Amino acid sequence: MNNIFKKEVQQGLDSTPKKLPSKYFYDKIGDALFVKIMNSPEYYLTRCEFDIFKNKTHELINSFDIQKDSYFELIELGAGDGLKTKELLKVLVNENYNFDYFPIDISSNALSLLKENLKSEIPKLSIKTLQGDYFKVLDTLKTSKNPKIILFLGSNIGNMNDELASKFIYNLGDNLNSGDKLLLGVDLIKSEEIVGPAYNDSQGITAKFNMNLLDRINKELEANFNINQFKHHPEYNEEEGIAKSFIMSTADQSVEIKAIGKKYHFKKGEKIHTEISRKYNDDLIKKIISKTDFSLKTKILDSKAYFADYVLNRN
Ligand code: AVI
Repeated sequence: MNNIFKKEVQQGLDSTPKKLPSKYFYDKIGDALFVKIMNSPEYYLTRCEFDIFKNKTHELINSFDIQKDSYFELIELGAGDGLKTKELLKVLVNENYNFDYFPIDISSNALSLLKENLKSEIPKLSIKTLQGDYFKVLDTLKTSKNPKIILFLGSNIGNMNDELASKFIYNLGDNLNSGDKLLLGVDLIKSEEIVGPAYNDSQGITAKFNMNLLDRINKELEANFNINQFKHHPEYNEEEGIAKSFIMSTADQSVEIKAIGKKYHFKKGEKIHTEISRKYNDDLIKKIISKTDFSLKTKILDSKAYFADYVLNRN
């Protein structure tokens, strides 16, 4: 049994209001559900960022300030299936840029699939997969003084609160040298009509993704959550700009978690907070990076202006 999982579930459910960490969405079932979310008609984020990578590739490359004849390292945090990045890699390889691609991921399985796929689609690409925690891996790359471009896409930063996001970017900067770049892909603040359905799709995939957390606790921590007495409860308002996911109890009930050795009581209508997905604008990005060693260089939008890739320069 995973002791850190147990400890964090206990801490979250002991808090008022109750909460659970969203990083635990991503077991095998959760990974597969997230792929389905990305392909759902309502979840525009992936398609919008793909649009930037496919149609504004040269704008991206220009913002990196790289020369064809000088070597650089292109490092991606959480590469996944690399669908968007592939569009950039193809152009860089075709135009004879001199670089290695370092996808970093916690999942060695995801990395070997990605490597196989890239080897067949872009045979000339030099790819060096790195398995592990982002910061541990970056620490090993720090020793090389080669120019670096870091990709952190998909609005993954939005699953952190602003203070954590700022610390995260600060720590990235600590592993970089002056002139290195960070390409930060973020979802922009928009109306409820657009953002709401992305986190409450009509096929109920996001609901399953959220509720999978209770399944995991049942399976891994010997709990007896009755999944039929809880429901997915998303909230978003444009003013705050944060999509929030909750699991709501639909009855007064008690749940036993044997691994923790405790019973938890839930009132009808009580919410467990499971995720934040922050949406951004220029002011928020500027505020977040004001406490880091980065400055804003370029902003590249998709054709609907729903999503932005901000290119930040390490001072
Ligand atoms: C991974 N992350 C950026 C997604 C998001 O939009 O916050 C996770 C997700 N949660 C519900 N749908 C997608």
